[in-house]
Amino acid sequence: MNIKHILAVVAFITLIVGGPAYVLFVKEPPKQQQTTTDTKTEQKKVITEQPKEPAFDKTKYSYDDPTSIWVVSNKQRPLNPKNYAPSDLVSVGGGQQLRKEAADNLSKLLAGAKTAGLTMSPLSGYRSYNTQVTVYGNEVKANGQAVADSQSARPGYSEHQTGLAIDVGGGGCGIEDCFGDTAAGKWLAANAHAYGFIIRYPEGKQDVTGYRYEPWHIRYIGTDLAAEMHKKGALTLEEFFGLPAAPSY
Ligand code: DAL
Ligand code: ZN
Repeated sequence: MNIKHILAVVAFITLIVGGPAYVLFVKEPPKQQQTTTDTKTEQKKVITEQPKEPAFDKTKYSYDDPTSIWVVSNKQRPLNPKNYAPSDLVSVGGGQQLRKEAADNLSKLLAGAKTAGLTMSPLSGYRSYNTQVTVYGNEVKANGQAVADSQSARPGYSEHQTGLAIDVGGGGCGIEDCFGDTAAGKWLAANAHAYGFIIRYPEGKQDVTGYRYEPWHIRYIGTDLAAEMHKKGALTLEEFFGLPAAPSY
């Protein structure tokens, strides 16, 4: 075997052994790198394609129309017409009435309270224009006009006339300040939104709503708006819709 033969054998061995060794030890790392890059690209794609939550449509329903579940009545916004009466009132028990949609949701709310071991009763729901004449007149006689205006709406201005608001009591308290401190009152404040209601006259908001804190007065606005207000931490309809505060007539 001469030198040429020896070199040919060495070259042959190098090809046979070196080829697979190159594939195993040299080519493998770039392959892993490729996989990493692909995964990163994939993650980027997933993040980019997350669907955006549509913005809440504050114009979906009217806040002027007394038949709308979003109607806003306050001392600057009388019901139009002032003698408005709803056409779909139904009984909610306790001799009280609400509009059908509000009544159905109140029934669910009362069932929810019962499941939590609490009893709540409907005390004053729909009130006609003429009933509000009597209610407001009695307040003025008993407490004078200034106090009456802080806790009773004048006829044509009350949410009770829309058939969407109701006063409830429980835990040994009726339409009284103590209701807010009962377990029932606390449950109501924490859970009303899940049933489409809000505490319409919250504590510390008299300068906005025109009325002192009424832990017993709940107003039906539908579950979508109640959930959005809850999410945004908005306590009053005036603030949520950007309407002027209505502390007085
Ligand atoms: N108590 C509320 C303000 C009403 O009379 O409608
Ligand atoms: Zn009320």
